[in-house]
Amino acid sequence: MQKKLNRIAKDTNSFLKSFIKKQKKSELIIPMKYGLFSGGKKIRSKILIDIGSLFKVNYKSLIIIGSAVECIHAYSLIHDDLPCMDNDLIRRGKPSAHVKFGESTAVLAGNSLLTMAFEILSHKDLNISEKIKINLINKISESSGHLGIAGGQYLDLSFEHKKVSKKKITQMEIKKTGKLFSFCCVAPLILKKKSAKEIKKFDNIGADIGLLFQVADDLIDNKGSSLIAGKKTGKDKKKGKATLISLLGHKDTIKYANRLILKINNKLKKYSLKSKDLSETLDYILNRNK
Ligand code: IPE
Ligand code: IPE
Ligand code: MG
Ligand code: MG
Ligand code: MG
Repeated sequence: MQKKLNRIAKDTNSFLKSFIKKQKKSELIIPMKYGLFSGGKKIRSKILIDIGSLFKVNYKSLIIIGSAVECIHAYSLIHDDLPCMDNDLIRRGKPSAHVKFGESTAVLAGNSLLTMAFEILSHKDLNISEKIKINLINKISESSGHLGIAGGQYLDLSFEHKKVSKKKITQMEIKKTGKLFSFCCVAPLILKKKSAKEIKKFDNIGADIGLLFQVADDLIDNKGSSLIAGKKTGKDKKKGKATLISLLGHKDTIKYANRLILKINNKLKKYSLKSKDLSETLDYILNRNK
């Protein structure tokens, strides 16, 4: 698993490096690269590749689409750490972008990474029809805006120190984290021009995978080591974040996550699409310590 992840990370990083190299220089390039290349598991790209392999999508196209996803992910982390958001000083074992470059530069580097995703998906290097590119851009935009990351982050902050229902917590986690995973699960189907009904199914599977990912992140925050995770842990409790752990406790949240894995695997099985790679990725998501 780690080997596969390393290869995907290497291929994604080399695409992004050459993409940026071909652009004109600017002062924001250094903080943007800091957000992109300071480590990071590239788990979203792995999901894209796992689902893509079920539909026999070309690896190179998936790496390019994954690179766009990683730009949006990197932007979301830079903004997530800002003083007006989670106010975190360490990310991936290094100073957060705003600590290193200042707040305004971090905001602008984040904005530039978000828009770079659209530059990548509309670029001629991605050898697919314009119609498909538009569908991909439409979907990734939806995953990032008020119905996705931004909307979910808004809810995450507004739920601090409040008693929030299980349903509301999972809806918030699906928006802030799940929607980008949904994009990763439907992009291969968009490429293969699958029906709206099939796309919807994979949209839901992606939301569940993203929810699983966020629940695992919350478990790491609750009991994990800061040194291994590369970010301060124990912060969700201090900040009164509404998480499943705050509602169910650590043990029952692990049970919830295991049931989620069963649910995802069952959905894929029903679709006669249970793959070893994907199941392996799901186990990795829950059992990781960073
Ligand atoms: C952390 O994401 C933020 C969440 C959405 C939970 P990752 O754990 O994927 O971060 P990196 O890219 O591997 O550092
Ligand atoms: C971040 O969730 C979700 C995003 C969309 C960036 P967290 O706030 O829990 O992520 P970490 O723990 O800081 O990485
Ligand atoms: Mg946050
Ligand atoms: Mg955070
Ligand atoms: Mg967290």
